Amino acid sequence: MVFVLVTRRLPGEALPELRRRLGPPVGVRLWDSDDPMPRETLLDKVRGATGLLCLLTDRVDGEVFDRAGPGLKIVSNVAVGYDNVDVGQATQRGIMVTNTPGVLTETTADLAWTLILAACRRLPEAIDHLRELRWQTWRTLELAGLDVFGSTLGVVGAGRIGQAVARRATGFSMKILYHDERRDPTFERETGAGFLPTLAELLRKADVVTLHVPLTDGTRGLIGRREFELMKPTAVLVNTSRGPVVDEAALAEALACRRIFAAGLDVYEREPLPADSPLRQLTNVVLLPHVGSATIRTRTRMALLAVDNLVAALDGRKPPSLVNPDVWRRGE
Ligand code: DGY
Repeated sequence: MVFVLVTRRLPGEALPELRRRLGPPVGVRLWDSDDPMPRETLLDKVRGATGLLCLLTDRVDGEVFDRAGPGLKIVSNVAVGYDNVDVGQATQRGIMVTNTPGVLTETTADLAWTLILAACRRLPEAIDHLRELRWQTWRTLELAGLDVFGSTLGVVGAGRIGQAVARRATGFSMKILYHDERRDPTFERETGAGFLPTLAELLRKADVVTLHVPLTDGTRGLIGRREFELMKPTAVLVNTSRGPVVDEAALAEALACRRIFAAGLDVYEREPLPADSPLRQLTNVVLLPHVGSATIRTRTRMALLAVDNLVAALDGRKPPSLVNPDVWRRGE
């Protein structure tokens, strides 16, 4: 039987939509749970699949491709990041890999801003202060944080999300600096953003550094001890991209000794964040559980886009968000 494997329950109409659009003879096998498929189960259930619709918690590598066999045409990831998929291996084997860009841009940018404001204004500390009955009077510098309005934003990686974060900064009269592999004149014109050719220069100048790069061999550990040394003691680091872009031990150290003022994190080297992570002990870090795209509308749109990608590939059409176009060109 020809079938696709779906590794998790999907929100909204995504699953009925998938079933309807694939129709017989292609069946849908669902891991009917909100929790990830155990690795061994994935390796077992993927045997003979023609398509795989998966989440960022599924490691999709050569072993999965071997188990699936030669019939596997597409891996449709429900996330914009696809570092969980071995794209090199997939490309070698002629398997298409797709992601879900665009639909989550504004939602993720909103969350980056939530972290910017919460970290600068010490929100978690202030909330605890009130709840734990420590608020006794009004003190001049108690819980005093940093001004966001009029400060300098440093965007590392000015793709869709980085640019959306920068656009919001114009409403806070911020000076915007960015560092990327490429300059984007339209972005510069629209936001007044200034391009900096080196990351070091951006780190020296920015009050708020916000990370929006994909996780690759080149960005793993991009922000480490040396980079914290370059940042202002009043700097705030925000990461909504992927945890391993930041050396977490170096970050914990920089926060503990007040080398930087604060951080706001939605992503971690290991997820879920381990119970013994030193970050949990620190008061000057805002910790969120990877919820950048977590609104009902956006998560539903991500699932529907993943369905579009999968169905297109199986219909012999080019999927709307193919990340390894070489596979498609080869087949033309
Ligand atoms: C992604 O899409 O890569 C996010 O991390 C989850 O929305």
